[in-house]
Amino acid sequence: MRMNQAARIQTRFHIALRIVHWGMALLILAMLFMGIGMVSTVAPAYPVLLALHREVGVALLVLVIVRLAIRLTTGTPPLPDDLPRWQIRAAQGSHAMLYLAMTTMPLIGWAMLSAGGYPVQVAGAVILPPILPGNIQLYSLLRGAHAAVACAFFALILAHMSAALVHALVRRDGIFASMAFGRRATGEAGEGGEAAS
Ligand code: HEM
Ligand code: HEM
Repeated sequence: MRMNQAARIQTRFHIALRIVHWGMALLILAMLFMGIGMVSTVAPAYPVLLALHREVGVALLVLVIVRLAIRLTTGTPPLPDDLPRWQIRAAQGSHAMLYLAMTTMPLIGWAMLSAGGYPVQVAGAVILPPILPGNIQLYSLLRGAHAAVACAFFALILAHMSAALVHALVRRDGIFASMAFGRRATGEAGEGGEAAS
């Protein structure tokens, strides 16, 4: 009741952002392994994997738009005061790159199928319109780009996960908790995202 509004600080990402973060993380990791599985098999599972890859990929494009809207409207918890400046820059830069990869991967997938003249069929019978004219050279370029950006994305995710684990297990500075669920060890924050003074 005696909450001092001026001193209220956010200690966690908004609950909606946390749900989307972990949901998308699972789907993106599944997509990377599914992609590698697809290009290394000629088994009858191939068309099933490709259809699933397309559907989940387009769903991820919708999710990243929703996520950006949540992120821009709900703010971010401040980083610890003792975090070196280079680490703050690295965190900001890597988050921007992760958003870039999350947006460009599905768009490149959609664009390359458009350029190759393949239908982008999702949700059963819906066929998305092509976003590029048919052009076989463009298809080949985008096919290479899809694989190259996937490799860079995977490397970025590994670096991001390593940093998150260092914060969780070594520094124990609350950064991991800012993206986690459940009660905070310090007990000051509720599930809604904002902490008491
Ligand atoms: C976050 C989203 C996505 C990720 C992480 C992802 C990842 C991958 C990966 C890792 C590969 C294998 C690349 C290689 O080694 O050559 C691949 C291939 C492919 N992806 Fe995606 N992809 C995504 C979205 C999409 C979307 C939205 C579409 C289509 C609408 C799509 C269509 C394809 C196709 C057609 C292939 C090539 C299959 C083949 O040559 O057999 N992807 N993807
Ligand atoms: C697999 C794909 C992943 C992507 C694309 C991703 C992306 C992001 C992004 C963009 C942020 C900034 C907050 C936001 O706007 O959502 C973030 C924060 C965070 N992520 Fe991930 N993440 C992934 C997986 C993971 C995994 C596996 C872990 C844990 C090991 C993790 C732990 C965290 C933590 C602790 C934060 C908050 C701390 C910070 O600001 O860095 N993420 N993530």
